[in-house]
Amino acid sequence: MKSYNVITIFPDMCKLPFNQGVISKALDNKLIEINAINLRDFATDKHKSTDDYQFGGGVGLVMKVEPIYNALESIKSSLNDKGVDSSKHKVIILDPRGRRFTQKDAIELSQFDSLTFICGRYEGVDERVSEHLCDYQYSIGDYILTGGEPASMVMIDAIARLVDGVVGDKESLVDESFSQSSLEYPHYTRPEEFMGWQVPKVLLSGDHKRIEAWRTDKSFLATETSRPDLVSIKDQSKESRLVEACKSFYDEPVKINLSIALMHYPMKDKQKDVVTTSITNLDIHDISRSSCTFGVDDFFIISPIKSQRDIANIVINHWIKGYGVEYNPNRSEAFSRTSIVSTLLDAIKKIKDKIGRKPIIVATTARSSRATISFKELSKLSSEEHVLLLFGTGWGFTEDIFEMVDFVLEPIEGVGGFNHLSVRSAVAIALSRLVNS
Ligand SMILES: C[S@@+](CC[C@H](N)C(=O)[O-])C[C@H]1O[C@@H](n2cnc3c(N)ncnc32)[C@H](O)[C@@H]1O
Repeated sequence: MKSYNVITIFPDMCKLPFNQGVISKALDNKLIEINAINLRDFATDKHKSTDDYQFGGGVGLVMKVEPIYNALESIKSSLNDKGVDSSKHKVIILDPRGRRFTQKDAIELSQFDSLTFICGRYEGVDERVSEHLCDYQYSIGDYILTGGEPASMVMIDAIARLVDGVVGDKESLVDESFSQSSLEYPHYTRPEEFMGWQVPKVLLSGDHKRIEAWRTDKSFLATETSRPDLVSIKDQSKESRLVEACKSFYDEPVKINLSIALMHYPMKDKQKDVVTTSITNLDIHDISRSSCTFGVDDFFIISPIKSQRDIANIVINHWIKGYGVEYNPNRSEAFSRTSIVSTLLDAIKKIKDKIGRKPIIVATTARSSRATISFKELSKLSSEEHVLLLFGTGWGFTEDIFEMVDFVLEPIEGVGGFNHLSVRSAVAIALSRLVNS
């Protein structure tokens, strides 16, 4: 059993904090004992005085050396009787001038069998106590308390909880603030939502790698913000590299409510005439795969020409019903959300039948002058509303389409003026930007 002795003129003060909680259980289980030692019992004069005026003048009284010496002698002799090795007993004086008490000190001090704390009052304690009777001088922070009792209670609490068996789950001591020279990550418990305040989704994901990455990042962020002094230069580069590496893990992809349509009519040709373009096998495959990758709800291929729709259906059915299923099951998954319809109105109706209302319709363009909504704005909108994003073929949409849609999405820009992407590439890039905005 570890024993902690507190030399004080207010012994009752030292009992209350440990009447409840983890430390009180440790006392009951005899893992530790806390003895409040009344300094007055060791005073030598008839008034039982423990303080006196200070030499050299000045306001305030100073605690005397003799009673403290006597109290310490008594403690040492009782420890000796109990067979405690004197090297396993340390004497600590609480003093604002002392070394700042940290978690590292708590860990070191928890190794000793017995600790005695000397609590000052008034102006402080005769300096000969620190010089001749103490092993350590500790402060608990840069402020002045009325006495050493609260400081000794703080130290005992921090030290005793590290003693074997005091805290049930040893694991909980490993991750804590300061134990790894950083502050701990934030914690959440039920309910998942309170007053609209959500628990970070990553913590509900069950994906331990992502959770660990999130916690590492939050821990580093808290340390950097509140206690930059704890982050050494070496740690900084190591931690920030780790954080960068982790970010891609836990950054939450936005859940978008999005359907897309590849339109083959009404499209413009090179002469700006309204035409129906041909469905291509490459578009069917690549856009279906992108749709599946980015969680698009429906991919509509729109063509009013029956023979074109029939060919496209043969391709899709090969992969979802025919030999393709056996040959490449991934591809049948990719086609699971692809369908061929005759008109844009058919696509809109299908969505309306499914979700109960008309989707927001957004056209795409390569020309920035037409744009009315950014990727970021559309991403936010599609997290709240269902969006049908239209991609064109040929030489782009007719004016009728631009007039009927709710928004026109900003174009994908490259490094120069050229941004004439294939529709397959444009779909993949646009979806990636919407999901990761
Ligand atoms: C009023 S204080 C004396 C302050 C002293 N005159 C000074 O300026 O450093 C009385 C006693 O409270 C305790 N004390 C006050 N602040 C403390 C702190 N931050 N950490 C540890 N002990 C403290 C010490 O035992 C101290 O002797």
